[in-house]
Amino acid sequence: MDVQENIITFKQVSFKYNSDESLALNDVSFDIPKGKWTSIVGHNGSGKSTIAKLMVGIESPLEGSVNLHDKMITEENKSKIRKHIGIVFQNPENQFVGSTVEFDVAFGLENNSVSYEDMHALVPKALEDVEMLDRLDYEPQSLSGGQKQRVAIAGVLALNTDIIILDEATSMLDPEGRKELIALIHRLKDEKEVTIISITHDLTEAAEADYLVVLNEGQVYQTGLPHEIFNDGNQLAQIGLDLPFSIRMHRALVGCVDYITYEGLVNKL
Ligand SMILES: Nc1ncnc2c1ncn2[C@@H]1O[C@H](COP(=O)(O)OP(=O)(O)OP(=O)(O)O)[C@@H](O)[C@H]1O
Ligand SMILES: [Mg+2]
Repeated sequence: MDVQENIITFKQVSFKYNSDESLALNDVSFDIPKGKWTSIVGHNGSGKSTIAKLMVGIESPLEGSVNLHDKMITEENKSKIRKHIGIVFQNPENQFVGSTVEFDVAFGLENNSVSYEDMHALVPKALEDVEMLDRLDYEPQSLSGGQKQRVAIAGVLALNTDIIILDEATSMLDPEGRKELIALIHRLKDEKEVTIISITHDLTEAAEADYLVVLNEGQVYQTGLPHEIFNDGNQLAQIGLDLPFSIRMHRALVGCVDYITYEGLVNKL
């Protein structure tokens, strides 16, 4: 059996935003396997973005601990820790600071005091990785939503972090843009050995991941391999998360799910 190495560990984490409010996270424990794609799923308000904020040290646990590379994230080390994690948000419109695609990717590097020489090498490389090198001198506003998200990912790749968090990064994209971004995530994971954490309430996207963490009302509801969790789809239905069409279809036809993506279903049929 493979010995799994974990890159992030939440240990009995509780958190609230204001002292007079209820817990946004309540006794949350889970692991993020290194070099894999983990998807964190759950309803609006279930605590997904709060988890992302704790991972990057924007917020700190009220109780429990968040470990990165087996080291607890503390007030003292959190600025260092942030260099390990890049984050891409939901709205492609809000991600841009540069007047061109090139300047935009360079901006994060400049913030990290990277020399101009290194920048000239890193920016084109990162844009090549997301297949946007030919748009180097485009204005960000002229790109499609999916292309904007790819440039945002290039900005993170240029920083060479070992973890990339995508917080609902596909949710504002059309189906084509979404598909492209998911294909890109697969490729980055395979070629760059980067750990991907995608936060989503789209179970079709989650089906593509290697590992799932299901949240419900600030608590961990289930963790496991996507096909295990989807085979036991009634559990998800109980918290009102609908299984993707391909999986419902597959369960109806075959009784159990071994191919959980749309392509998997087509191949099987
Ligand atoms: N800045 C904030 N101040 C106070 N409460 C907050 C803040 N941000 C989130 N919350 C509350 O914390 C809980 C968890 O919110 P969180 O944003 O983590 O959920 P989420 O799963 O990311 O939801 P969504 O799918 O809508 O993005 C919710 O009850 C939310 O109202
Ligand atoms: Mg959120």
